[in-house]
Amino acid sequence: MSILVTGGAGYIGSHTCVELLDAGFEVIVVDNFSNSKSVVLNRIESITGKPLKLYAIDLLHREALEGVFEVNAIEAVIHLAGLKAVGESVDNPLWYYKNNITGTLNLLEIMNKYKVNKMVFSSSATVYGASSSVPNSEDSPLKANNPYGRSKLMIEEILGDLYRSNPDWYISILRYFNPVGAHESGRIGEDPHGIPNNLMPHISRVAVGRSDRLSIFGSDYDTPDGTGVRDYIHVVDLAKGHLKALEKINRVSGINYYNLGTGRGHSVLEVIKMFESVTGRNIPYSLTNRRPGDIDKCYADPTKAKVELDWVARKTLSDMCRDAWRWQKNNPNGYEG
Ligand code: UFG
Repeated sequence: MSILVTGGAGYIGSHTCVELLDAGFEVIVVDNFSNSKSVVLNRIESITGKPLKLYAIDLLHREALEGVFEVNAIEAVIHLAGLKAVGESVDNPLWYYKNNITGTLNLLEIMNKYKVNKMVFSSSATVYGASSSVPNSEDSPLKANNPYGRSKLMIEEILGDLYRSNPDWYISILRYFNPVGAHESGRIGEDPHGIPNNLMPHISRVAVGRSDRLSIFGSDYDTPDGTGVRDYIHVVDLAKGHLKALEKINRVSGINYYNLGTGRGHSVLEVIKMFESVTGRNIPYSLTNRRPGDIDKCYADPTKAKVELDWVARKTLSDMCRDAWRWQKNNPNGYEG
């Protein structure tokens, strides 16, 4: 029996595949490579010494996707495929809804048909919205304020309705906080197209000389040093969380929601200082205006994942900076190099 990982060539998907293969699972990846490169799969195989099966398929191509279920015995699906840039989703909402929602509906209908009823879904802390107080627990109010976030929230609701219609589903919804860092081999990591939207890849690119300086978006937030506070979580800890969720859905039916975060917030300035001290690189920065849609602080209450999944994030901010830098230094041009 195999685990199907949609979006398995992406940043979180590639790290999750490594953990799955290391744990002895057979892995099938479905990816359309819209935001990833096929060379990632070779690197996963060389890190783990194990093969995986790849289908270069878009979830919108229903027949092709159904073909994967026809010829493979799939036990569970880890569903990570989706578009994820907030700004892009504001500019092109229909594209986001079609990809994220229709792609998920195709997948769920096919799963229903082939009686595969176990899913781990990649959601986001973005579903807690701007107004909820920190730390966010799983029962904090939900509200997304952009099409990307709303697509995650809508899929959570679709999965809830599906479970209520058929309690024989086993569903785990993982709400990620801010994944950063890279596998400690330095062979797989985050490789965004163009100028990175997110903080850590931008810092790494300044460090490696691909960007001149970092803009800090806002220095007048209600936080100790005025810059935004987030719950950064090492991508390998996050990947391990998927295995714990998989173990749980193999035992118990139901739908469950888990925060995957460390429970600690760090400001932008703290991240920069830690990166500089761990790597010895200087990160020039400018203080600029707030980025529209950003909130002052966001961090998890991760208690539920600890109690119910026996999962805790173990890696520190220093580990995250060290591993992000190792990846960037070894691969200055990302997977292109
Ligand atoms: N930031 C900068 N400069 C940059 C990039 C980011 O100062 O060049 C700041 C942001 O203003 C924020 C912090 O760094 O204070 C973190 O920003 P990221 O873009 O790295 O992460 P976000 O918290 O904004 O977004 C992340 C995910 C989204 C998700 C969101 C909410 O990238 O997909 O968390 O959970 F929706």
